[in-house]
Amino acid sequence: MGSSLNHGLTAKRLEGKVAIITGGASGIGASTARLFHLHGAKVVIADIQDELGHALCQDLGPEVTYAHCDVTNEDHVRSTVDRVVAKHGTLDIMFNNAGFLGKPARTILDVEKGDFEKVLSINLVGPFLGAKHAARVMVPARKGSILFTASVASAICVTPIHAYTSSKHGVVGLAKSLGVELGQFGIRVNCISPYGVGTPLMKTGTGLEMDEVEEAADRAANLKGVVLKAEDIAHAALYLASDEAKYISGLNLIVDGGYSTVNPSLGMVLAQGKS
Ligand SMILES: NC(=O)c1ccc[n+]([C@@H]2O[C@H](COP(=O)([O-])OP(=O)(O)OC[C@H]3O[C@@H](n4cnc5c(N)ncnc54)[C@H](O)[C@@H]3O)[C@@H](O)[C@H]2O)c1
Repeated sequence: MGSSLNHGLTAKRLEGKVAIITGGASGIGASTARLFHLHGAKVVIADIQDELGHALCQDLGPEVTYAHCDVTNEDHVRSTVDRVVAKHGTLDIMFNNAGFLGKPARTILDVEKGDFEKVLSINLVGPFLGAKHAARVMVPARKGSILFTASVASAICVTPIHAYTSSKHGVVGLAKSLGVELGQFGIRVNCISPYGVGTPLMKTGTGLEMDEVEEAADRAANLKGVVLKAEDIAHAALYLASDEAKYISGLNLIVDGGYSTVNPSLGMVLAQGKS
């Protein structure tokens, strides 16, 4: 077998790499921190949930550390990146994953300007700051992988969550635009867009328990017989962060079991017949 094929079988797919994961204290970010660690990366969890973040570090050991970092605060983001580079000498992977669903609203008339701005601030301005400060250190190094967690709501409109949908469409635009600028420096930029996963974000945003979120997602899913878990998104992030994806940039990897390809409404109307 050629060396490029052997490469895919390497047990530790991120050996020697240094990663920052925003929103790494919980849900998809925490699963990704565990998986990146398992694959040999030094991981910095950047979050505002200090207790959860520290607990995860204790669980995983000294190769995983915590930084209090509000992604909407440029000083926090700048100093997190600077401290990582000072400690580890490099930053290979910037996973801009922190996110917020926002307040539920029945119609656009119920959406306050401040609430809309808060969602955009966490879900779009935060990732912009993460990417900006990652690029600051990755460009001179002429390598790096910048990832964003977008959402299936970057491709379709799931429910009237206007701010969230706008922010996730925006993240995909940002990633494409950055990929164009940063390709010349060997930096890859990609998005991962999950379908519904039972995490605290969904619990808070919907008022449902996490198993109820999973159950609802499963009922609405295109792909049956499997339930999407945070670990599945972590595996997508592992692939895009690793050298196995060395020629992949500008991609929005939609992890939705085909959900966004289905629009059942015409079929439903046709099935009703003439009446
Ligand atoms: N769960 C889903 O169904 C789903 C689907 C599609 C996309 N996503 C996206 O996945 C990402 C991760 O969400 P999750 O589902 O794991 O939820 P989660 O609530 O478990 O994790 C989100 C993390 O982001 C952190 N965070 C929030 N605001 C922050 C800030 N200002 N600065 C730093 N950290 C902050 C939270 O403290 C939390 O640890 C989000 O971007 C979300 O939009 C989730």
